[in-house]
Amino acid sequence: MRIVSGIQPTGNLHLGNYLGAIRNWVRMQDEVAESGGECFFFLADLHAISMPHDPAELTANTREMAAALLACGVDPARSVLFNQAQVPAHAELQWLLNGTARMGWLNRMTQFKDKSGKNREGASVALFTYPVLQAADVLLYQATHVPVGDDQKQHLELARDIAQKFNNDFCPPNGDGTEKLVFTLPEPFIPPEAARIMSLRDGTAKMSKSDPSDMSRINLADSADEVMKKVKKAKTDPEPLPSDAAGLESRPEAKNLVAIYGALTGQSVADVLTRYGGQGFGTFKPALGEVLVETLRPISERFVELRKDVCEIDRILATGASKARDAAAETLAATYRALGLLR
Ligand code: TYM
Repeated sequence: MRIVSGIQPTGNLHLGNYLGAIRNWVRMQDEVAESGGECFFFLADLHAISMPHDPAELTANTREMAAALLACGVDPARSVLFNQAQVPAHAELQWLLNGTARMGWLNRMTQFKDKSGKNREGASVALFTYPVLQAADVLLYQATHVPVGDDQKQHLELARDIAQKFNNDFCPPNGDGTEKLVFTLPEPFIPPEAARIMSLRDGTAKMSKSDPSDMSRINLADSADEVMKKVKKAKTDPEPLPSDAAGLESRPEAKNLVAIYGALTGQSVADVLTRYGGQGFGTFKPALGEVLVETLRPISERFVELRKDVCEIDRILATGASKARDAAAETLAATYRALGLLR
């Protein structure tokens, strides 16, 4: 197994990132290490320049996000942890795949539509071709599994389409009927219990770093008081919790809080409702706040310590990048060869 995934170093690591993706990175790292597989986790700093950004902030955020991942349990002794900018093969492979990706495929990407909004003409070219870079990120390492939240599913499907078309177009059968394909088709791994954690202010919008209201998300570095305050102020409705999951269907905010409680405690929605069904948010919210504070406490304590040691973070990223460059070399060379490019 080859596990590959990335996160943009913009803003804080929040609960959606943690439950949707990072917690699974750590779980997979632990499982894969035992079975001889490998994990590659990276800061997608090249993706971050697709939106307007401040260079000094990007540098600081890259280090902060690295510290946050380490605090969550990503272990550089068992996983390769790096930032894209130190591994030029990502940008190189993107260019090579630009010949295979189709305009029509990219035109269908919902994230581009969401992020460019009404200002499509003013959006950067990087925002449009962003999913091709994301395909390069995983194909470069022959990823078999990509742990992500539900919002990245479409990008992963595009990566598979690009890999399939490239293999079809440029990997002809050998004389003996066998063929040596350049790319492995990656599978997304999306946690069913936390595929899409929603905003605390609006149960129909996903929890996101780009939401202007900090009250909409729980950041992994929030203090216990902030977490409690955010949970208590979370939008809800006046009804008590229902006794079964069907009763949550038209209540997106209640559904989200119950899902978060379940994901944090390892309980199904039905179990959570067996315990809290019939009770109001005056009881449920403090219970949820407690669980959150207890889950986040060790992570934020480690984060506060790790972020102080910039030299150590830079050393870890440099070591990871060196391993990633080695791991990427073969696939990159095979791609050049398949395209008939002399090097
Ligand atoms: P990013 O930085 O927006 O998010 C990082 C990871 O967190 C997940 N996530 C969520 N999961 C559940 N609920 C939410 N509210 C929520 N918000 C975010 C995302 O699905 C993601 O797994 N384009 C990617 C970064 C990337 C990447 C890659 C990922 C670049 N190259 C290659 C996988 C493989 C992004 O912007 O994620």
